[in-house]
Amino acid sequence: MSLTETTTLANGVEMPRFGLGVWQAEDGEEVIHAVKWALEAGYRAIDTAAAYQNEEGVGEGIRQSGISREDLFITTKVANRDQGYDETIAAFDKSLERLGTDYVDLYLIHWPIASSFVDTWKALEKIYTDGRAKAIGVCNFHPHHLDTLLKSAEIVPMVNQIELHPLLSQKEVRDYCAKKNIAVEAYSPLGSGGLLQNKQLEAIGEKYGKSVAQVLLRWDWQLGIITIPKSVHQNRIKENADIFDFALAAEDMALINAMNKDERFGWNPNRFDDK
Ligand SMILES: NC(=O)c1ccc[n+]([C@@H]2O[C@H](COP(=O)([O-])OP(=O)(O)OC[C@H]3O[C@@H](n4cnc5c(N)ncnc54)[C@H](OP(=O)(O)O)[C@@H]3O)[C@@H](O)[C@H]2O)c1
Repeated sequence: MSLTETTTLANGVEMPRFGLGVWQAEDGEEVIHAVKWALEAGYRAIDTAAAYQNEEGVGEGIRQSGISREDLFITTKVANRDQGYDETIAAFDKSLERLGTDYVDLYLIHWPIASSFVDTWKALEKIYTDGRAKAIGVCNFHPHHLDTLLKSAEIVPMVNQIELHPLLSQKEVRDYCAKKNIAVEAYSPLGSGGLLQNKQLEAIGEKYGKSVAQVLLRWDWQLGIITIPKSVHQNRIKENADIFDFALAAEDMALINAMNKDERFGWNPNRFDDK
C-alpha cells in the first residue's frame, strides 16, 4: 500500500487513490511549495481548478519538482462562469496554458449549473475524444443531476468528486456511482479542517498513535474512496500521507461509519441552479 496505488477508472486510466488538494492555496510561492513538498513526499496527484486561480503555480511546482509529466496525475475543473460548449473549450485551452502542459489527466465540471451542464459535458466529451484529457468527470453531482446528464451523454463520467467525510458519508451518491461504475473522489476529507477537533475521532486516533487527519484519511483508504486532502504546510503534507503503517479495526470503521449526519462544510449542489 502506498501513495502511488491507483484506482482503475471505467476507461482503464489509472488514477492515484491519494492526492493533494490546492483550493485556497495562494498562487505563487505558497502553492509552488505545497506542490513540491507533496511530490517530494511521494504524492503523484494534484487537484486544482480554474476557479482556484493557482493553475500557474501548480504548473510551476510540477516543473520545479523535476518529476516527469507522465508520472503525474493532474486534475483541473471548468469554472461555473465558463460553462457552455464553446466557453468550456476556450476555458480548457487557458487551463492548459496556465498549467504549462498539453493534456490533463482528469477534467471535471466544477458544479452542476442547471442551464448549462449538459452542453458543458458535450465539450468535455470533445476534449476527451481529442485526447486532451485522459479522463473526464463531474463534481457535486447528485443522482438526479447524473440522471439528467446520462440522458444525452455519449460517455459516462468516470469520476464524481463530492464532499465526503464521516459527517457526510454520501451513501446514496456512492451507491448510485457504484452501479454506474463512476469512481467517487472525496473532497474536504478533513471537513475543510472542521473535523480535526472531533472528540470521537481524537479518541480513535489515540488508540493507534495517529492524528485525527490520519484517521480520516485512513477511513477513506479502507473504504476505497479516492481522497485529496489540502495543506500548504510541509509537516502536514507528510503527516497526511503517513497512513500506511496502521489499519482501522472493523469496530472503529463501524464507529466512524455511524457518525453520518448529512452535514456539509461546503455548499449544497442543489443551490447551483444557475450561473
Ligand atoms: N470540487 C469541488 O467543488 C471542491 C470543493 C472543495 C474542495 N475541493 C478539493 O478538495 C480539496 C480538499 O478539500 P478542502 O481544501 O476543502 O479541505 P480539507 O482537505 O478537508 O482540509 C484542509 C484544511 O485542513 C488543514 N489541514 C490539513 N492537514 C492538516 C493536518 N494534518 N493537521 C491540521 N490541519 C490540517 C488545512 O490547513 P493548511 O493548508 O493551513 O495546512 C486546511 O485548512 C481542495 O483543496 C480541493 O482540491 C473540491
